[in-house]
Order: sequence, then structure tokens, then C-alpha cells
Amino acid sequence: MTLQNISIKTNDLHCHFGALHAVDGISFEVPAGTIFGFLGPNGAGKTTTIRLLLGLLEASSGSAEVLGFDTRTQADQIRLNCGALLEHTGLYERLSAEDNLDLFGRIWHIPPVERQQRIQSLLEKMGLYERRKELINGWSRGMKQKLAVVRTLMHDPKLVFLDEPTAGLDPVAAASLRDDLADLARQHGVTVFLTTHNMAEAEKICDQVAVISKGKLLSVGSPDELRLRQGTHALIVVGRGFNEEIMQALRAMPDVAGVELQDHHLVVHFTRETDSGTLVQFLAGKGVMIDEVRKGKASLEEAFLALLEEKE
Ligand SMILES: Nc1ncnc2c1ncn2[C@@H]1O[C@H](COP(=O)(O)OP(=O)(O)OP(=O)(O)O)[C@@H](O)[C@H]1O
Ligand SMILES: [Mg+2]
Repeated sequence: MTLQNISIKTNDLHCHFGALHAVDGISFEVPAGTIFGFLGPNGAGKTTTIRLLLGLLEASSGSAEVLGFDTRTQADQIRLNCGALLEHTGLYERLSAEDNLDLFGRIWHIPPVERQQRIQSLLEKMGLYERRKELINGWSRGMKQKLAVVRTLMHDPKLVFLDEPTAGLDPVAAASLRDDLADLARQHGVTVFLTTHNMAEAEKICDQVAVISKGKLLSVGSPDELRLRQGTHALIVVGRGFNEEIMQALRAMPDVAGVELQDHHLVVHFTRETDSGTLVQFLAGKGVMIDEVRKGKASLEEAFLALLEEKE
């Protein structure tokens, strides 16, 4: 891939706070126009990595390029071309939504006519236009969060960093924000780098995810790849007619490490790589109606948990 197609590239990046290695030698690439999810437990080093990428913190060693700019020497260029939502929304509670955005538009030196157009189109897109004149201190958390995302987009950045953008949002607000983010990437080619603790969310919208723990990258790939990589020893059978007798018989079989039943999904964990033939034959013999058999973990969340456990 040429550099223009890569929005972020890190090379053995380290950030130490005294003896603590908050970021401990990470290397990855984020292709332009994709949604990249940065996943990891509390204290894993996610926010620190974003701060390094924005040039807000200096790396202890290693290097990183964002939109082709070096984080050490060209941080101003990076901040001009990127939007970022970190822990604080950066909004002024005593200003209206419109005035908040106007203020940020001025900071970014966006000419007045363009500023107005941009405010209108972004607020309309997020469903906030009707309420633009209200002071935001009366707004709900979800509305403020959406406005905070709009703020990061005012100067039409090519790349946005969003640190837990949907934290604290209700499922409807979170889903609608996710749609907006997907739209940004798919329709407008914006690269979205986000952190989230919601694995279902990452699975839904991320083209690629990276799992980080204790400053180290454990895995990078599409959510499907991660599921399969972690779950090569599990078979998932979707069907009807499972019962306790079948579950017990499966548990007693050689090489079976565990059996779980979730709604119509039977997950059989094996101690080694296994093909599905024997299992399918056994289940069919017991009268189970099989709709689908697949390899892997049922969800990214399970893969994520297994990955963390394995590396403990
Ligand atoms: N300025 C700092 N000084 C000292 N230690 C810090 C500093 N910033 C972060 N750390 C430490 O670095 C580690 C990684 O923190 P970071 O905020 O990057 O985690 P995170 O993955 O974003 O976690 P969370 O999911 O809780 O937001 C933590 O142990 C944290 O205490
Ligand atoms: Mg964080």
C-alpha cells in the first residue's frame, strides 16, 4: 500500500511514565477511509496512544506518522488535519449548539458563509438542527456527545480520533451515532479511529480492530479474523432440538472441552482442531434440525476475552 492509502502508521512506539510502560512497542497501520477500533481493558494504553498520535505526548522511542506527518516534528499539521474527541467534550455549556460550533469554526478560520453552511449540514445530519438555539447546559448527555462529535468534524478533517464516543449513550442514540460514523467513512472517505468497550459495537462498524493490553498489541485484523483466530477449536451449530441429554453426551465425548447452549446456538469447544463431520452426524442421529455449522467464536467479545486470558 502506498503512503496516501495509509492514514496512520506506527513503528515500535513506546511511551513510558517512569517505570510504567503505558505503550510498549506497538506497530500497526490504519488504511485510509476505514473505521479502526482500538480495543482493550481499562488502563491498556488506548488514550495514551491517541495522545501520542496527535502529538500531545512525546514518545519515549519509536515513531508514528499520521496522514504522512511525523508526530514528533509535524504535530501542528496533524492537529490541523485531524479531529479529536478525547475524555472531555470541549463544549461550552453556556453557549447554544450553534454558537459552540461557530466558535470552533472561527478557531479553525473557516470563512463565515462556509461556516454557516457546515454548521447547518452537520446539525441536520445529526438530527440536532431544530434545537440549535438552545443553551447546551440543558441538553441530555447523548445530545451533547453528538454535538461533541460534530465539533470534531467542523473543519472537514480527513481523520478523526474518537475516544469512547458512544459511552453513556442509550442504545438508540448509540446506534444512530454509529450510523453517522459509518456514513462518514463510507460516503466521505474519512478515517475513523475509535476506542470502545462495547465489543458488539466494534463488531458492527469496524473494518479492522486492534486489541491492546498492558501497552502491547495482542492482535490486529477484521472482527471476523479475530473471531476465527481465537476460535479455531470451537464449532457453532445453529439449529433446533438440542436437549440436556445431547449436551451431556457431547460433554462425555473425547476432545470436547465444553458445551454451551445459547438460544439456538450450540457452541462445542474442542481441545484440538476438529472437523465438523462427526459432530454433525451425532446431532443428526439425535434428531437435531441443523441450520448452520461454523467455526469460530460466537462473538468478538468472546474472542476478546479469550485473547486477554491467553496472554495473562
Ligand atoms: N500522564 C500520565 N502520567 C502517568 N501515568 C499515566 C499518564 N497517562 C496515562 N497513564 C497511565 O498509563 C496507563 C494507560 O492509560 P490510558 O489512559 O492510555 O488507558 P486506556 O486504555 O485509555 O484506559 P481506559 O479504557 O480506562 O480509558 C494507565 O496505567 C495510566 O494510569
Ligand atoms: Mg482511555
